[in-house]
Amino acid sequence: MSKPRLEGKVAIITGAASGIGEAAARVFAANGARVVIADVQDELGHKVVASIGEEKASYRHCDVRDEKQVEEMVGFTLDKYGSLDVLFSNAGILGPLSSILDMDMEDFDNTMVTNVRGVASTIKHAGRAMVERKIRGSIICTASVAAALGGSAPHAYTTSKHALVGLVRSACSELGAHGIRVNCISPFGVATPLACNAYNLEPDSMEAVTCAAANLKGTVLKPAHIAEAALFLASNESVYISGHNLAVDGGFTVVSHSYSTIQ
Ligand SMILES: NC(=O)c1ccc[n+]([C@@H]2O[C@H](COP(=O)([O-])OP(=O)(O)OC[C@H]3O[C@@H](n4cnc5c(N)ncnc54)[C@H](O)[C@@H]3O)[C@@H](O)[C@H]2O)c1
Repeated sequence: MSKPRLEGKVAIITGAASGIGEAAARVFAANGARVVIADVQDELGHKVVASIGEEKASYRHCDVRDEKQVEEMVGFTLDKYGSLDVLFSNAGILGPLSSILDMDMEDFDNTMVTNVRGVASTIKHAGRAMVERKIRGSIICTASVAAALGGSAPHAYTTSKHALVGLVRSACSELGAHGIRVNCISPFGVATPLACNAYNLEPDSMEAVTCAAANLKGTVLKPAHIAEAALFLASNESVYISGHNLAVDGGFTVVSHSYSTIQ
């Protein structure tokens, strides 16, 4: 039998009480990692830990908008497991849909504080822990197809996910000297509470919307597909990949949707 891909590794996953982060927590733990689930949904987070098993996972309340909570969550991880090899900085919000002409600037700020500043402070504190301990770690962030295209999500969300790709490239440029890789993943629409609540759709209707718009036919995108991409970037299989934005979108962002010249 082959060795588990994250054997002996310690991982933090933000936003892991639900959706993509939860799927990643299960996949990482199944592949030998010990996982800290960091989220603001305490009850759900504890349930995820209970179903994975307390020997493999722990829950820590952490609002990524609050840098002190991020610093304490990283400290908790180091105290509990003695290391930090992987950060999957995944927590994010979609924010309300509105015309740019009516945009509420407080909503705009909240999206940016959560999706960009929140990720930046996780990279700061996890990166610091890795550098101080000479750990050649892997940092992965969740961007979106909205990091490559306008018009697929609220304006603030699109802005925040474009910024995230810049943050990943910038962090990669410095942390590479320490052997730390920094990448992001850009999923297409997945039926999680974030997407279903925003568009007021049941999960199967949300999946149908993605399937109808998708270039790649015959596969329904699930949180587990994104989790597998995160596993690849967390593991040694991607040992020379850094600064990359891995689209998990079945080709959605590289194919024109306005017309097709070839049938
Ligand atoms: N679902 C999609 O269609 C889709 C597509 C592309 C990218 N994404 C991105 O995937 C990531 C995960 O979202 P999801 O779809 O799994 O949604 P989700 O709602 O299932 O999970 C998001 C999690 O983040 C947590 N969270 C929100 N704000 C937080 C904060 N301030 N501090 C800590 N935790 C916080 C939530 O409590 C929740 O558990 C997000 O960054 C999102 O932008 C989602």
